[in-house]
Amino acid sequence: MVDVILGLQWGDEGKGKIVDYLADKYDIIARFQGGPNAGHTLYIEGKKYVLHTIPSGIFREGKTNYIGNGVVIDPITLLKEIENLEAQNIPVKNRLIISKRANLILPTHKILDAASEASKGNSKIGSTLKGIGPTYMDKTGRNGLRIGDILQDDFMVKYELLKSKHLQLLQVYNYDFELEEAEEQWFEAIEKLKSYQQVESVYYINEALKSGKRILAEGAQGSMLDIDFGTYPFVTSSNTITAAVCTGLGISPQNIGEVIGITKAYCTRVGGGPFPSELEDEVGEKLRKEGAEFGATTGRPRRCGWIDLPALNYTCIINGVTKLVITKADILNAFDEFGICTQYKIDGIETNELPFDMVNKKIEPVYSYFKSWGNIENTQTLPQELQAYVTYLEKYLNTKVSMVSNGPGREQLIELEAIK
Ligand code: GDP
Ligand code: IMO
Ligand code: MG
Repeated sequence: MVDVILGLQWGDEGKGKIVDYLADKYDIIARFQGGPNAGHTLYIEGKKYVLHTIPSGIFREGKTNYIGNGVVIDPITLLKEIENLEAQNIPVKNRLIISKRANLILPTHKILDAASEASKGNSKIGSTLKGIGPTYMDKTGRNGLRIGDILQDDFMVKYELLKSKHLQLLQVYNYDFELEEAEEQWFEAIEKLKSYQQVESVYYINEALKSGKRILAEGAQGSMLDIDFGTYPFVTSSNTITAAVCTGLGISPQNIGEVIGITKAYCTRVGGGPFPSELEDEVGEKLRKEGAEFGATTGRPRRCGWIDLPALNYTCIINGVTKLVITKADILNAFDEFGICTQYKIDGIETNELPFDMVNKKIEPVYSYFKSWGNIENTQTLPQELQAYVTYLEKYLNTKVSMVSNGPGREQLIELEAIK
């Protein structure tokens, strides 16, 4: 079976930490979508690591980390990540396998991303500028290059063709750019990546399943950033939900096992777009400070607010979440009481459904307030107030909470029930 870990909010829920923790129980840890727009932070033995393309199982000996066909790869960032890890004695080469079908981010994709954002002015998406949108556009537009192409004779021909398309497109934008140095770095990285193991997606993953290997699929971004079901157009360019595990790895739906949905005990978002329970006051500022809410990929301050249950209910439905994990419960210690958004008020009517137009519709969050807890000990029994919060979430979302995370470290985790 393939168990899935994914974010239920707008990303940065703490997926990396939970994947790293659970990786020990699996044989293969697989990324299935997104690319270097992701930033997954892990603290292992007090040391901080941030992963962008490499799955968060890379620190575990004897585990295979697989970059699936649904992922988009920037050779420069991937190589940098590999070199950083290897410099810290993490043997990446024999732990990493890449699907030949994963699409490549070209230097011109990144320029197009920046040019498109610049042209949007105030209504920009707030993209991480990693070239994600333009690369997925070329993938669905059937123009993309895949990492398997780097081993083919006609790679340069295909590259030049796509690059010249991009240069033509760039003429539409009045945007200055420099390509030569990035291109040089890109080809250097490609050369080095040629020695990494590439596989035919479908046979690789299905043979692994057939031989009884346990697979953990690691999501990037969050369900509210999903291209179909997120706060469109303020979303990323991939499907970020459980369904994407099938297309992003090449497995059938019958192979999906547990779906472990991660939510912070509050809520954050980085970049533009709707965020009904955002707190644009000193309370939000305090959440940002206490939670150290700054982007792992871009360093941008994250927007902060209380947890949004209508949105969580929606993302639990889309994903078929079977187990919930709450992260950053320790951060709410800094408050005597905290809010949870239980309903939206739209045009004077209370609802727990997300409207089609979240961008222009005025959505007023309706809050209930809960008492906070003191320090959380690493025992099986939660403080009474935290237990009350967990019970409320379980009832509202009709899903069991399996773990509560109370700090960034690998061991700062309370398992309420065994996940595997
Ligand atoms: P991801 O993208 O979902 O993997 O999450 P990020 O790494 O972008 O952001 C989550 C941040 O919260 C990271 O800095 C983690 O180290 C940190 N973190 C994760 N879980 C906890 C927790 O339970 N408590 C605290 N204080 N920090 C946490
Ligand atoms: P992880 O995996 C939070 C956001 C960007 C922007 C929008 C589109 O760390 O949770 P893109 O670069 O994809 O075109 O940006 O999506 N975004 C994320 N926000 N966490 C992420 O990943 C994100 N990846 C993209 O900020 O609003
Ligand atoms: Mg992140």
